[in-house]
Amino acid sequence: MSVPIVRTVAELRANVADWRREGSRIAVIPTMGALHEGHLSLVRAALEKADRVIVTLFVNPKQFNNAGDLAAYPRTEEADAGKLAPLGAHLLYAPDVHEMYPNGFATTVTVSGVSDGLCGAFRRGHFDGVATVVAKLLLQTGADLAFFGEKDFQQLHIVRRMAKDLDIPIDIVPCPTVRELDGLALSSRNVRLSPREREVAPKLASALFNAAERIAGGVPVDEVLAGAWSAIIEAGYSRVEYLEMRADEDLAPMHELDRPARLLVAAWLGETRLIDNVKVLSRTSIDNAPGERTKLSVTDATI
Ligand code: PAF
Repeated sequence: MSVPIVRTVAELRANVADWRREGSRIAVIPTMGALHEGHLSLVRAALEKADRVIVTLFVNPKQFNNAGDLAAYPRTEEADAGKLAPLGAHLLYAPDVHEMYPNGFATTVTVSGVSDGLCGAFRRGHFDGVATVVAKLLLQTGADLAFFGEKDFQQLHIVRRMAKDLDIPIDIVPCPTVRELDGLALSSRNVRLSPREREVAPKLASALFNAAERIAGGVPVDEVLAGAWSAIIEAGYSRVEYLEMRADEDLAPMHELDRPARLLVAAWLGETRLIDNVKVLSRTSIDNAPGERTKLSVTDATI
């Protein structure tokens, strides 16, 4: 058995209207397909909070920086649909490019501030493409809840900001990054790694977790980040695009651990660009009385 697939906004809305008549709570999980355990964890989380779960599959040309990357993106719709049915997802919405961007389409959603820096500095126009398609998907589905992985942490912030600014009545629900046993964050790009690169790949996560632990232990942030940058290169990555500490709440740059923070990284392993992030959080409340030493620990430190 496979999950029902619809390809037009009209069919999608007909399903949603039926579910609304039943009084159902509806969730959406936007994806570009090539579903892995990370996506499936979002589906499971959505099924716990909603009566009906829509997964969208659209490889969005507007968020790719080059035609080669778009052409190389894995397209595995049949396998994806096969993975969704046993979980109990209710609908796969897989529009084609003309349905999403009909002739004459002329609108771009730009979210400033949280789009600046990090991936935004290296992938020009990428987040405009993401914000535009996600705005459309949220409005097309009219869902009550939308689930996004923390793996794409900057994207999560952009989507939250966009939904708030455009008054889209939806709750954006973040879900933790899913990792392989050796720590590598799951990504559709991991299939592009050669066996040798796959061995090296988890060293990005270990460098991040190690850095987060050292920062939590009181080592100066800039010193820790410089060491982690070198460790990533020594491990076999060819280039680090960025490695930064940002505020968990609003992505503001941080140089001291005075509030909950994230370490975020993007690095190239051969021809593959990988991103990852880990949380650095105070163990006790960061509203400790002045003068009291804040105890810090690394969460997400599962490896
Ligand atoms: O994270 C992704 O897979 C994409 O950026 C998204 C959110 C589905 C928009 O195309």
